[in-house]
Amino acid sequence: MSKADVIVGIQWGDEGKGKIVDKLAQEYDMVCRSQGGHNAGHTIWVDGVKYALHLVPSGILNPKAINVIGNGVVLNPESIIKEMEQFSQLEGRLFISDCAHLNLPYHSLIDQAREKLKGVNAIGTTGKGIGPAYSDKINRIGQRASALLNPTQLCEDIMNYFDENKVIFDAIDVQTPNKAQLLEELTGYSEKLSKFITNTTNMVWRALEENKRVLLEGAQGTMLDIDHGTYPFVTSSNTVSAGACTGLGLNPKDIGIVTGIVKAYCTRVGNGPFPTEDFGKDGDTMADVGKEFGTTTGRKRRCGWFDAVAVKHASRLNGCDQLSLMKLDVLDGFETIKICTAYEVDGEIIDYVPSNMDNVKPIYEDIAGWDSVVGCREFDKLPTTAKEYIQRIEQLTKTKVGIISTSPEREDTIIR
Ligand code: GDP
Ligand code: IMO
Ligand code: MG
Repeated sequence: MSKADVIVGIQWGDEGKGKIVDKLAQEYDMVCRSQGGHNAGHTIWVDGVKYALHLVPSGILNPKAINVIGNGVVLNPESIIKEMEQFSQLEGRLFISDCAHLNLPYHSLIDQAREKLKGVNAIGTTGKGIGPAYSDKINRIGQRASALLNPTQLCEDIMNYFDENKVIFDAIDVQTPNKAQLLEELTGYSEKLSKFITNTTNMVWRALEENKRVLLEGAQGTMLDIDHGTYPFVTSSNTVSAGACTGLGLNPKDIGIVTGIVKAYCTRVGNGPFPTEDFGKDGDTMADVGKEFGTTTGRKRRCGWFDAVAVKHASRLNGCDQLSLMKLDVLDGFETIKICTAYEVDGEIIDYVPSNMDNVKPIYEDIAGWDSVVGCREFDKLPTTAKEYIQRIEQLTKTKVGIISTSPEREDTIIR
């Protein structure tokens, strides 16, 4: 019986999970998503060609790997249908859990309306209906992917839901479709997706029993976790490795190696605390060189220095066996690089993440920079100061750096 290895985001998302999942997927038989929805944007570059994935797992470019969308994902049919059009011969290579909840157009409308009402206190969501879709699931008024197998019944059920929630829809000024429009829409989804919908829990169990290599692809990042992130500025799922169990029907003993994906600096998109954010020219340089614009919404990402306190915390939460340090090349040319080693909160110095990060001030250590690591594929060829930076990250986060990435391309990766 094999174990499922996990790839998990350690910061505020967009760490480069897609690149590493794609790289590692070449050696895996199955790649699974377990949470999140089309709020995720995972970018893969292979031989100069770019792929942006939102719901389809990043194993799709390995023709031999089976790709699974687990029960913990919220599935937007329109988004996945569009994404699937980029790939041929998906039948037998892509499977969607019959228990995954549907994220339908009205969920996005609710999300956007609520954000608008919040004004300056908005979370800065992707507007993709993630919160409302997960709320319906938890409220036990959601619809699952299996319901797409009978669109007429699903249409009836959703029309009843619209009636029951009419007061809310009216209050937030959200227009719901009429019955004929809704049925047409659902029938279209059903025609395109039904053959991919199945019991994926059994599939993943069977793969492990047959000693197949299974990789679980996290979405978002630990600091956006609904329980452990900077609430309320978080997403609506458990992004930590434990979420991969509930989101696929695995138990903790099924989990193998956990790899935490971290940028060599730090970014965040949307609102909420970000202690090491740099508002000066260094932050701008990171954004420019790192092309820090969201894959899903195109928004500019906030940039700042590596926060070793948050990464140590996230590594412990996820049980990381190793870190994969991404975008080291983006720090090329900096004379000094800052690394946050502790926080100051109300005059007290702490080395852990407090439950409330509103008033956290970072304490930095300076590290000498380097000229260039871009495209480097061997650890021994890295400049001495880059190696020292990596070593310091390992000391401060108490986690080994097992993978280093030096460009967006699949092969520009050092595996130690
Ligand atoms: P994900 O959501 O964690 O999969 O990350 P995104 O795809 O949203 O954002 C990461 C971005 O960094 C993408 O544009 C990647 O192509 C790019 N990227 C990944 N690794 C590297 C790297 O080592 N160096 C550089 N310069 N870019 C990278
Ligand atoms: P990947 O998988 C970065 C952020 C949003 C917002 C908060 C809540 O590409 O790393 P939501 O739409 O989920 O309700 O928004 O979470 N967010 C992400 N930030 N990367 C992501 O995914 C994200 N998915 C959601 O910007 O702050
Ligand atoms: Mg992303």
